[in-house]
Amino acid sequence: MVNQDVYDALLAQYRSHYGKEPEVVAYAPGRIEVLGNHTDYNEGFVFSAAINYGTFFAASKAPGSTCRLVAGDLRREVQFETGAVTASTTDTWQNYVKGTFAGLIEGRGVTTGFDGMFLGNIPLGSGLSSSAALEMCTGLALGKLYGIEVDPVTMAKIGQHAEHAYAGCKCGLLDQISSLAGKQGMLVKTDFRSVVYENVPMGPDACFLMCNTHAKHALVDGAYDKLRAACEEAAAFFAKRLRHPVTHLRDVSMAEWALYKEGLDPAVAACAAHPIGEDERVLAGAKLLEQGDLAGFGQLMFDSHESSRVLFRNSCEELDTVVEAAKNVPGVLGARLSGGGFGGSVVVLVHPRDAETASAALANAYAARYGKPCAVSVITPSEGAHLV
Ligand code: GLA
Repeated sequence: MVNQDVYDALLAQYRSHYGKEPEVVAYAPGRIEVLGNHTDYNEGFVFSAAINYGTFFAASKAPGSTCRLVAGDLRREVQFETGAVTASTTDTWQNYVKGTFAGLIEGRGVTTGFDGMFLGNIPLGSGLSSSAALEMCTGLALGKLYGIEVDPVTMAKIGQHAEHAYAGCKCGLLDQISSLAGKQGMLVKTDFRSVVYENVPMGPDACFLMCNTHAKHALVDGAYDKLRAACEEAAAFFAKRLRHPVTHLRDVSMAEWALYKEGLDPAVAACAAHPIGEDERVLAGAKLLEQGDLAGFGQLMFDSHESSRVLFRNSCEELDTVVEAAKNVPGVLGARLSGGGFGGSVVVLVHPRDAETASAALANAYAARYGKPCAVSVITPSEGAHLV
């Protein structure tokens, strides 16, 4: 089992804290976003993968209506009533669990509480979606505990609603879908209009490095929501100018953007060009992967980062430093920021035989500029969320 050590530590801590065995345990991984940035809520396309780091959630039914929840890493317990699940402004980690629990039990007349605990190994604020992993392992574990069955897309939407209503970020569905749909050695390619996904093999000549810059991840500070609003404004603008229906930027091509953008605020127009270009890159990337052209796919990753940097402006100096360094590291095929942006991590596509030397070269290049290395981990596309 992946992350067996984390599982063992969680069980030991659960037994000693609650004095009993958990009735259910579920696991959900974090994700990397490989190509297709800020396209999910624009109903476009994304290549992503579930990763070999994740979170376990253990639970059993409580004797009464009170829910007890422990963050295993912090060794902190919070309590709330099943009938009154509200967001908290202190210990905000509980909001991902509360929001998921509330969404899961809504309208089902659940009155019994749970004794829950979670523990994981996804670095927080790294852009690897520790929050979605927490939501999805919570959803699977508590769904099993209460006998509530929901399909994966509904489960992903419950997690997304927890982010919107409890954590304060209007994220798309990418993180939750990737955590659920991952397969060993495969990418997940999702069409976020139909929310239909497929697993696509990468082949043996590719692996990923994740370079965590530890720069601040500002998703909940409103930067993400502002970008989303700009995309929505642009979609409404193009809806009035194009002859075919436009509900989201997915409906606008790069050629149409260039022809019809006149009259749109230039900053908003630049923003819009990013997800539109990303959609085209994901579709081009799918063809390149079919042909086994990893170098071509990697170049699209570099192009994606450049589009983030110049058009969407969701990069930052630390991320740019890693991507620029990656261009000169032997064996590296592509690199780009992954996820919301404004900090977090760069995902690097590299041949497995060069992974070790490339990791050292990237860490050193970062240290040369900032005095300390970025944290580089090898990422293996892994199985998605499941009951243990
Ligand atoms: C964050 C969000 C996702 C997605 C990415 C950007 O990870 O949670 O929904 O929008 O940013 O692609």
